[in-house]
Amino acid sequence: MDHGELDRRFDQPIDDKSRKCIARSRWKLLAKVLRESNSSGSLDDDLPRSLLDSTTSRELYGLFKWCIHDSNQLDKLWPDDSPGQWLKCSCSDGHPQFSLNIRYLSKQFSVNELIGFNNTGNICIWPSEEVLAYYCLKHRDIFRGKTVIELGGGMTCLASLSVAQFTDASSVCCTDGNSLSVENINHIVRNNDFNNCLVTSQVFDWKDKSLSKNMESKWDIVLCADCLFFDDGREALVETMSRITTNNGLILIMAPRRGRTLDRFLELCHGKFLIYLQEEFDRDVTLLHKEKLINPNYNADHNYPLLVQLRKR
Ligand SMILES: C[S@@+](CC[C@H](N)C(=O)[O-])C[C@H]1O[C@@H](n2cnc3c(N)ncnc32)[C@H](O)[C@@H]1O
Repeated sequence: MDHGELDRRFDQPIDDKSRKCIARSRWKLLAKVLRESNSSGSLDDDLPRSLLDSTTSRELYGLFKWCIHDSNQLDKLWPDDSPGQWLKCSCSDGHPQFSLNIRYLSKQFSVNELIGFNNTGNICIWPSEEVLAYYCLKHRDIFRGKTVIELGGGMTCLASLSVAQFTDASSVCCTDGNSLSVENINHIVRNNDFNNCLVTSQVFDWKDKSLSKNMESKWDIVLCADCLFFDDGREALVETMSRITTNNGLILIMAPRRGRTLDRFLELCHGKFLIYLQEEFDRDVTLLHKEKLINPNYNADHNYPLLVQLRKR
């Protein structure tokens, strides 16, 4: 999918008419993605194409190893006939004990789903999520004894579930505004072992103030990957982050620049948070990014995530 098209649309000021227009174009874009997926072979026989994709803004950095899982061993207690593929996710780089069973949605979306709540988290795992997960594994000490929540974690919440499995966080809450994503996360949570960490998942729409009110000052660490480019949700996201984080809390965000969208998010954060922005935050990721720069199809503006750390003022 040309994510640039999405970005350009979300860059415009929103009124009711353009909202309908956005829904229609989102449908068209997603339909295009699905057509492309179907025309290139069965997703069942192979790894999901988006994990292997090397020519779009969905390209991952190869920080994790993915292989097909024998799904017969999984989902025994909670059988389900919706289409999903079980994958084993591991990280060969210094974390041999890390291993997660991840359920990857490979679903035909209904028209209602496509024009309904944002579906970008059900298309693929975006590079920012991969990099955030990797960053969390490498900085596992900051999570010791902490309460952690992920906002807009998409269909896998890979970052927060990596925290749940590989750190000594006391609790982890995986969220997204899309109920299909959260349904998939529920499957993943039931089919993994998280030792002593309490793992929960729930639908959490940043625009629903009643939800964030119940979570006031509850979370020590807030994670978020590639959620800054929705013009109609950015303000609500900043408000939510401010409301749900404890006073000494830390907000860790990975997001590509995507035109001016990252800057617009940071403008909203000024005054509310202390901001620490890093373009180069991990040697391995920087190296992989530099290797990719020679590929003319690599779109760094949409792919390469920057790390934003926020603390409440
Ligand atoms: C580009 S996807 C990123 C998903 C995941 N973090 C990743 O990087 O793979 C953006 C995510 O934001 C979620 N989202 C968009 N608007 C939202 C809102 N108002 N409340 C909660 N989640 C929202 C979408 O459902 C989607 O999963």
